[in-house]
Amino acid sequence: MTTVDLPLLPLGRGTDLNSERGVECPGDLPSPSDPDLVARAIAAKEALGDRVFVLGHHYQRDEVIRFADVTGDSFKLARDAAARPEAEFIVFCGVHFMAESADILTGPDQKVILPDLGAGCSMADMARLRQVEDAWEALAAAGIGDAVVPVTYMNSSADIKAFCGRNGGTVCTSSNAEVALEWAFAQKPDVAGGAKVLFLPDQHLGRNTAVLQLGLSLDDCVVWDPHRPHGGLTVEQLRDARMILWKGHCSVHGRFAPEVVDELRATIPDVNILVHPECRHEVVLKADLVGSTEFIIKTIEAAPAGSSWAIGTELNLVQRLAHAHPDKNIVFLDKTVCYCSTMNRIDLPHFVWAMESLAAGQVVNQIEVDPETEKWALVALQRMLDLPGKSHKD
Ligand code: 13P
Ligand code: SF4
Repeated sequence: MTTVDLPLLPLGRGTDLNSERGVECPGDLPSPSDPDLVARAIAAKEALGDRVFVLGHHYQRDEVIRFADVTGDSFKLARDAAARPEAEFIVFCGVHFMAESADILTGPDQKVILPDLGAGCSMADMARLRQVEDAWEALAAAGIGDAVVPVTYMNSSADIKAFCGRNGGTVCTSSNAEVALEWAFAQKPDVAGGAKVLFLPDQHLGRNTAVLQLGLSLDDCVVWDPHRPHGGLTVEQLRDARMILWKGHCSVHGRFAPEVVDELRATIPDVNILVHPECRHEVVLKADLVGSTEFIIKTIEAAPAGSSWAIGTELNLVQRLAHAHPDKNIVFLDKTVCYCSTMNRIDLPHFVWAMESLAAGQVVNQIEVDPETEKWALVALQRMLDLPGKSHKD
């Protein structure tokens, strides 16, 4: 097994440009207490006009999301970025892997800006290319290389997406994972015993989709741990498996616990439990509904007045839903506050700094994927965009 250099930098400190982990913001940021920040953001956006298009993920802070031209989950934002060829700048209020995907899907003259380069994703950092290549070699050595189709969650770095593109695989998001897995399993019709999927990097989305949507059993799933020799698995376990799940998870969604679901059911009459598929399998099993952030929003919008909901996803979104629907009883599915620390790095000072810099003719924090990575990552992303229809969970 190759030793992987994985520096544990505190977010926003030091420099690790190859990582989703934080790097320093080079800018001279306005003070967070500047009373003119909102006016400055409005003025910069007006000055840029149609030259800029601002995308906002549902987990962004209120202070930032109000400036987004469109909001969405990662699938919708990838499509929206691709649908704006006339915008010179795409300012991505989200995290690094989303900005990379936007860069891949936009034209060569368009520039994608991430207002704070420290806005990475701990899950994406859990699968590094060298680790994945080691695993791929081990699968070949186990005699199953021809049977495996790699599928990566959107929440992964561009080089992992490129790996999937080069090796006959695809990308998925939480709103189309079912269709993507069906596609992947259909890719190897001649393999005895059927195709296998190497699912990166979120074991929970992979397991939840395989078991609850495709009807595989938990015994069909094994977990490849990149920090253990041979992934911690025997050759026999690999040969018997249908889903080889990468040992990665979301540090926000991984905190929701099944016991809290039980407690809420005991204390809130007729509460509906609505969770994101990045939650652990034990939590999803106890939920009433599971789906992407876009699905969660649509479900709450369609819910009757007076209904009660406990939602297991990032807190900014849950708070926004609770404020937007005062006629419904909406609570957060956790005892403690649980923002995504990297999503929250995009705050108003960073947004104002990025927008004012662009308006002044200075391109800052541009996210650029190198051409070779971009070529193959686009193959994988395009396979995703071409998937037949979409899951109903969008
Ligand atoms: P979606 O927006 O695709 O549901 O993903 C959630 C997430 O964790 C993004 O980082
Ligand atoms: Fe990454 Fe989880 Fe934050 Fe999404 S919510 S950016 S998966 S750490």
